[in-house]
Amino acid sequence: MDQSARHLRLLTETIAAVNSSLDLQEVLELVAHKVAEALGTDACFVYLYDERAGELVLRATHGTAVEELTRRPRMRPGEGITGVAAAERSPIMLPSKAHLDPRFKEFPNLREDEYESILAVPILARDKLEGALNVRTIEPREFTEAEIDLLVAIASQVAQTIEHAMLYAEAQRRVHELEALARISEAVSESLYLEESLEAIVKTTVDSLGATGAALVLDDGRIAWPEGRAGAHAVRTPLRWKGRRVGELVCDRDTPFSDDDRALLQAIAHHAAVALEHGRMALRGVLAQEIHHRVKNNLQTVASLLRLQARVDGVDPRKALGDSVNRILAIAAVHEVLTEHREDTVDLAELLERLRATLVQGLVSGTEVTAELENVALEGQRATALALVFSELLGNALEHGGRHVAIRLERRDEAAVLTISDDGAGMAGAPEGTGLSIVRALVGDELRGSMALADDAGLRVEVVFPADG
Ligand SMILES: Nc1ncnc2c1ncn2[C@@H]1O[C@H](COP(=O)(O)OP(=O)(O)O)[C@@H](O)[C@H]1O
Ligand SMILES: [Mg+2]
Repeated sequence: MDQSARHLRLLTETIAAVNSSLDLQEVLELVAHKVAEALGTDACFVYLYDERAGELVLRATHGTAVEELTRRPRMRPGEGITGVAAAERSPIMLPSKAHLDPRFKEFPNLREDEYESILAVPILARDKLEGALNVRTIEPREFTEAEIDLLVAIASQVAQTIEHAMLYAEAQRRVHELEALARISEAVSESLYLEESLEAIVKTTVDSLGATGAALVLDDGRIAWPEGRAGAHAVRTPLRWKGRRVGELVCDRDTPFSDDDRALLQAIAHHAAVALEHGRMALRGVLAQEIHHRVKNNLQTVASLLRLQARVDGVDPRKALGDSVNRILAIAAVHEVLTEHREDTVDLAELLERLRATLVQGLVSGTEVTAELENVALEGQRATALALVFSELLGNALEHGGRHVAIRLERRDEAAVLTISDDGAGMAGAPEGTGLSIVRALVGDELRGSMALADDAGLRVEVVFPADG
């Protein structure tokens, strides 16, 4: 076969083999092996250009292995024969005694003096330096013009593949990083307590780095959350907030940390610092203000309910006190649900279930209470009104009704309907007291709804009001 046809086939085959992977390390190893095979050389060394460090780093070899991989041979462009080829962007060929050339650079953990010849070429993707590679033979060898052209052609083709693999690796690294950061954000924003946030950050660190252990140490010394165990290697990454050090993220592992790992730790530490400071501010600021506001409103409601109760004459003080306590408990239940979920709305099914448990508790009459509750959401203040309404109506059914009480909460079109029915004697024209007057006021003013009482084999009260979701 004619030589240029053979070279073309070698070029095509090498590129096809190298293109079979997108994994950077695999691509580089394929390059080393396939290039040595194509040119029939004893060795091939592939260097990648680390733009940030401004160095060529040996990443794959064929023929001679690097003895201690943690200290990869690296050199600046212009340093060593391959470095000069990279700097000058043109091939360099020495047929024999390559290691005696003044440009030769020796690495203690890479044996190269056994090779006589060298052919080194830069790896250029368009005009960008991606790296350099060289082929070596133990016997002296004069590479032909055609062979040099072949290696240059191969190098410029694999440059594309390497670039893609690097982009892919970078994309994967970013995805991995974003996943970790998203988990942290989620955990920090969900938890009300600093300790919980710290725990989430530490757990995410351990998971995303395959660490043996991690800890967060805040500079005020208050909280550290040690998890796991120490490893052979440790990285301490400072947490900074507005240029100030606020703590440290410590990560332990049995295997060494790569540059990517360190970058990920920095990202986590940065995110953790921001999340923690934001979390603290939120607790001190917005959230605290909201809670304060709600507590103040609730206290005002409690005060006016007590005042209202105090104005009524001829009521047994123990009953008055008991009714008032139930009203306060109803308000507290809403506050509790709101604070627990950190949402603006309350799920009424959950709320009514809690209130029912409180009201039925300690009841001696043995009244049977059944409930069928659909999920209806109501904003905080209206939820407080509904809690009071419910508490009064259920209290009445338990106090004045029969042996069975049925509670129903359902959606009807855009509205919600609360029905409380019992099998007692019904109102039978009895005058409404403090309880029902509170209910009427709340249903009209706060719930913006309506109420109907009907004697129907017992009393049946239906409250209809617009829902918030
Ligand atoms: N479920 C009910 N079954 C029978 N009577 C009721 C029921 N609910 C209320 N009543 C009657 O209506 C009156 C007024 O109720 P309310 O305004 O809550 O005052 P209180 O419960 O303090 O008496 C009650 O005293 C009772 O006679
Ligand atoms: Mg009552």
